Amino acid sequence: MSNYKPEKVARMYDSLEDQGETAILLDQYHLGYWDETNPNASPTEAADRLTEIMIGKVTIQAGERFCDLGCGVGAPAIQLAQATGCFVDGITISQSQYEKAQQLAAEAGLSEQTYFILGDALQMPSEDATYHGGWFFESIFHMGHRKALQEASRILKPGATLLIADLPARPTMSEEFKALCEEQSHSFVIPKEDYPELLDTAGFDLIEIEDVTDYVITPLVAKMKIACQQYESEFLKYVQSPQMKDWLQSYQNRRGMEYVESEAINYWIQMLQDMCNNLEYALVTAQKRA
Ligand SMILES: C[S@@+](CC[C@H](N)C(=O)[O-])C[C@H]1O[C@@H](n2cnc3c(N)ncnc32)[C@H](O)[C@@H]1O
Repeated sequence: MSNYKPEKVARMYDSLEDQGETAILLDQYHLGYWDETNPNASPTEAADRLTEIMIGKVTIQAGERFCDLGCGVGAPAIQLAQATGCFVDGITISQSQYEKAQQLAAEAGLSEQTYFILGDALQMPSEDATYHGGWFFESIFHMGHRKALQEASRILKPGATLLIADLPARPTMSEEFKALCEEQSHSFVIPKEDYPELLDTAGFDLIEIEDVTDYVITPLVAKMKIACQQYESEFLKYVQSPQMKDWLQSYQNRRGMEYVESEAINYWIQMLQDMCNNLEYALVTAQKRA
């Protein structure tokens, strides 16, 4: 993909990680899942829940090898290794995330069962047909779907399950929002209707596209507003950090509006609302063709 910019993605996640943790989004780089079983979960707890749901869809045995393509700071990889006893190789393009992932795995006593790689998931340092399973957990949109699926197909064994947690474009997505995604968060979103052809071309059989927008996107803004009230001072620190400030300033610029520092939380909420108005959430399951 001509717009593929891994170095910009790396810089973005490095600076997010370097700005430190907030009690709201502790080690989490994906969204949360809320339903009737966890209506009062914090964003961090709900993000763990989404990882549990992903793990529930994984078919892997203890001792087998799984690849986490775009692994963040390794929290989902660690949860998966703990839950299943499999070995997980996680790759991230961000140096800071890579270091944090190693630290978290060591703290969890899982350094032997997890292996983190600093590099590009489009060029996995793995032989063909290495892995018994894998996922792209909110990462494929940075890589370009077609190339990412091709590389996943190369490194997965025939019959292996691939899971994808993605934020597909709503049919009503605006051109303005699409441009914002590409320029600001280096994300290239597609409608979920593109998946059957993309998967087929890459050598996968589509098993299921589960639309979970109602559990991830619909509750998001209300849940974040509650969390912001609860942790206001911490959150203010987060939205005023250099990377977030940069995002929010250019977000305000695009809307032709002035940036006022004390309003940073409101801008962030507005940005989330825009995201929710334009994107869905889908869990895609596919199987590498034999
Ligand atoms: C939104 S975060 C999700 C992280 C993690 N999967 C999670 O759920 O916590 C996106 C991740 O994709 C990774 N990523 C993006 N492009 C990548 C690439 N070309 N190669 C490796 N990792 C990449 C980023 O470094 C980041 O860790």
